[in-house]
Amino acid sequence: MSLLTTSILDASKNDNIILASQILKQKGLVAFPTETVYGLGALGLDSEAVERIFIAKQRPPHNPLILHVANSLAAKNLFNFAECSNPDAAQLLFAKFSKAFWPGPLTLVCNKNSFIPNITTAGLNKVAVRVPNHPIALQLLKLVDAPIAAPSANASTRPSSTSARHVQITLDGKIDAILNGGSCLHGLESTVVDISSGIPQILRLGAVSIESILKITPNATWKSIGQTTHESSGSPGLTDKHYAPKINQIELVEFANLSKHWKSSASLLIQTKSAIALEKQLGPRPINSGKVIILSDNTAEYAKNFYDALYQFELNETSHLILEKIKKKNKSDLSLSILDRLIRASSI
Ligand code: TXA
Ligand code: MG
Repeated sequence: MSLLTTSILDASKNDNIILASQILKQKGLVAFPTETVYGLGALGLDSEAVERIFIAKQRPPHNPLILHVANSLAAKNLFNFAECSNPDAAQLLFAKFSKAFWPGPLTLVCNKNSFIPNITTAGLNKVAVRVPNHPIALQLLKLVDAPIAAPSANASTRPSSTSARHVQITLDGKIDAILNGGSCLHGLESTVVDISSGIPQILRLGAVSIESILKITPNATWKSIGQTTHESSGSPGLTDKHYAPKINQIELVEFANLSKHWKSSASLLIQTKSAIALEKQLGPRPINSGKVIILSDNTAEYAKNFYDALYQFELNETSHLILEKIKKKNKSDLSLSILDRLIRASSI
């Protein structure tokens, strides 16, 4: 593929958001910030534009894309509830979820209308849709006035991007522009829920906690975390290698087994309370040992900085990384979503 010049557009200048919308309307590729992670946007109802996303990311063609729209009505127009196995229940779930979470980090999956190209949904008869809660993303959607397909803005298999700099690391020269709107609030992708059967199925854990979903519908179901064979769950993208930084050896280690790494040359990603405990038990980490990044004990704060930490280790040319396996607390925080990403990032 020939290299493009990827422009970095400062989103604090309104003209740049207008320019980004023009690039998109001309079937170009623009990475833009959302409240979860950066998305790699293209016109979602245009097969040619969507194909460019698959090429730039080197994304397997069996992995469908999320369509982003500006409001719930535009989302509703993409779904064909009559085709659902339980149309009334699916519509009721749509009403409940869209009211509770949009704009926000929830993606709904349901039967698609026929005008949505097959390439967008990777040939599936259902489409994933989300209304992002980010002023720049929303302004862009209004200017483009059409659904924008946007997977996370990273080359396939690599960690998601939570800043314009991360997007550059894997997509520079492959896309037309990056709209730089600073770092993302959640730092973790949206929670994906299939509502078509009338019983919500959580296909991907994400920035909306399981408990928040259960508050809306106590009968929601979800698959075990880090599961790599999601063929039967209907979310084909989760079968692939994911979120992997370019590091030779990555291990997921429980706190109880961390002490042997404290004075080693391996790099560490650990929580604050663990760093305090290890230092108290074993003394300060030697200066010549590997890089340590300490993330918050609060799971929302942890999630916000997680992908940035993976890119920092990569840029530091880390060859052996120990990821602390964070403890599952409860369904109300993001520990299960983070564990899912830790398991995937370390299963190379
Ligand atoms: O927060 C997010 O969701 C970000 C921002 C940019 O919106 N996007 C994102 O997209 O994470 P991506 O492509 O990296 O992940 C989309 C996930 C994949 O697991 C994919 O398999 C699933 O959503 N998905 C998309 N369309 C689907 C469909 N029709 N049926 C089932 N799963 C679908
Ligand atoms: Mg992704």
